[in-house]
Amino acid sequence: MNYFPTYLAMGDSFCNRKDELQRVIQDIEDGTPVLLISPRRYGKTSLALRALEKQKWLYAHVDLYKAFSEEDVTRFILNGVGVLLGQLETVPKKLLALAGDFFSRLNVQVSYHGAGLGLSFKDKDAPGGDEMLLSTLEKLNELALTKNKKVVLFLDEFQMVGEVSLNHRIEAVLREVAQKSTGLGFIFSGSNRHLMEQMFNDKKRPFYKLCDQIKIERISEQAYIQHIQKAALIKWKQHLNEPLILKILSITELHSYYVNKLCSMVWQDSNIPTEKSVEGTWISLVLENKSVTERELSLLSLSQRKLLLYIAEQGKIQSAYGRESMQGMDLSIGGVQSALKSLMQADYVYKDQSGYYCILDPLLKSTLHMKGVYNRVNAPNSQ
Ligand SMILES: Nc1ncnc2c1ncn2[C@@H]1O[C@H](COP(=O)(O)OP(=O)(O)O)[C@@H](O)[C@H]1O
Ligand SMILES: [Mg+2]
Repeated sequence: MNYFPTYLAMGDSFCNRKDELQRVIQDIEDGTPVLLISPRRYGKTSLALRALEKQKWLYAHVDLYKAFSEEDVTRFILNGVGVLLGQLETVPKKLLALAGDFFSRLNVQVSYHGAGLGLSFKDKDAPGGDEMLLSTLEKLNELALTKNKKVVLFLDEFQMVGEVSLNHRIEAVLREVAQKSTGLGFIFSGSNRHLMEQMFNDKKRPFYKLCDQIKIERISEQAYIQHIQKAALIKWKQHLNEPLILKILSITELHSYYVNKLCSMVWQDSNIPTEKSVEGTWISLVLENKSVTERELSLLSLSQRKLLLYIAEQGKIQSAYGRESMQGMDLSIGGVQSALKSLMQADYVYKDQSGYYCILDPLLKSTLHMKGVYNRVNAPNSQ
């Protein structure tokens, strides 16, 4: 088994998150919609799936990442409903009858999923309007109640809905259903904090105060030490010394994805790692990704790059407006202000619990630390 996946963390690769799991489960049991919010690759999807699997609830994971229009969103959600119907009704004939009842105006196909039967729609089908979505979700709730089953729709990368549905119609439908459904639960999750906050914290938007908002932070050092020791025992039949684990955790700054990325590389070696070998592995990862990272940097404005570089050099900063920092960056107050705002909105920079501004991505930070990057960062945008 892969203890350090760079995709979803399932089974034994899932570390801790006990409080968050408990909270998600309790919310769904209470009929409260849940919103998971964090930068990308912190562990939202893994967490939601873990909670759903643990409770053995019937669920559909609807990933809206590739929904580029309101019709896409509606179709993806209806497909999710189809998956749930397939779980609620496993007799093919009865399922077809249900599908006819639920989606009489649509051309549905019955297909076999890993878990059983599922329904899907042809791409070209117009999925019908808001009324159709509303009544379908209401029917699903009623069916779940009749069958005495809890069903959950997990709408992942939900910020896409805010982007494609400018008049908030789909949000209004979902709010109506989520508020009154006791058989059908909702988990929303999104990576773009800026967009998510607009959707969920603006009084004028349908989702205002709808959900229990759970901010997913980094996993604690203590939890990771135990987790990594288990994996070391399996691989090398012995524990690692604690300073070595702390080295891994300080390089990756407890960022879930990078902890797994670095460990998966370190765990490939049959020799027990040392601090030096771990550092070497990280440097090779930074070098492998250097051109991609530099390309990403080149898309930022000059002042954003200057500010990022400044934060990387300092490790973290308490204020970007001190005299020293202003001189260091050669930027006006206004320039720093707008650069900082953009970098935070795009999750390049975050404010840690002590109020310091830090670079979110440890790989980007290491790239900026490397010699020679400075000149490229300061070069004009043209590359
Ligand atoms: N609880 C966890 N324990 C260990 N690794 C995790 C955990 N949650 C997520 N990860 C790892 O973090 C990375 C991102 O996980 P994912 O669930 O896709 O995050 P998100 O949905 O926030 O983008 C993956 O490499 C995954 O294996
Ligand atoms: Mg995800």
